Amino acid sequence: MRKKIVAGNWKMNLGYEEGISLFSEILNMVNDEARGDQQVIVCSPFIHLHHIAKQSANSAVVSVGAQNISQHDAGAYTGEVSAKQVKSTGADYVILGHSERRAYFAEDEKLLEIKVDQALKNRLKPIFCIGETKEEREAGDFWDVLSKQLKETVFHLSEEEFKQVVLAYEPVWAIGTGLTATPEQAQEVHAFIRNEIANNFDQETADATTILYGGSCNPKNAPDLFAQADIDGGLIGGASLKSRDFVDIIKVLN
Ligand code: G3H
Repeated sequence: MRKKIVAGNWKMNLGYEEGISLFSEILNMVNDEARGDQQVIVCSPFIHLHHIAKQSANSAVVSVGAQNISQHDAGAYTGEVSAKQVKSTGADYVILGHSERRAYFAEDEKLLEIKVDQALKNRLKPIFCIGETKEEREAGDFWDVLSKQLKETVFHLSEEEFKQVVLAYEPVWAIGTGLTATPEQAQEVHAFIRNEIANNFDQETADATTILYGGSCNPKNAPDLFAQADIDGGLIGGASLKSRDFVDIIKVLN
């Protein structure tokens, strides 16, 4: 009914050659070991995009994405990379709303809404991340936090546009910490997100939306997480840098 996806986020890791060689390994292993209906997205630093998008151009399973785009179209914005430029590399996705960009680069809902529009205007599909901090979870008001993160960034879209969006729930306290949300905790939030989508759009749209879990996901905990009714795969950080671990997580997708 909806796409099951494992996406890797390499973050700011790997030199040019290292990235190319990791991607080749992943591509070969996926070809040999994964089923054709599993969807894999590798989100690399900009420097790898063109090469790996070309390498995977004929793959029905593996796609490529960026980790950021500029809010601007083009012009005198030194150091920025536009959505149009990313699309021209052959990439099809872009991660937006990641907590690291929210925390270290002051990306707020207002900016993220613009970036979502930029992505869609340039035929890039956003992998849009939301998630609460440890303090917000402990304070108990994290449902409002998650709701706001959705409402102010992707709920202005038309249904057709929203269908291009993949959502990722990443509890900030679980990212890179080795702490994982329990399958029950993650399922509770995923069900909440799906309900919010149904309320804003409709049930059909909610049922068609892929919602990934991210936060210290690995081959060991993936089976229990991906078995939950509303968890449609994962957004993988650290474990996506090891081909064996990453492909083992992909193989958990049902
Ligand atoms: O984008 C990926 C997430 O931030 C998860 O990272 O798997 O290293 O915890 P992690």
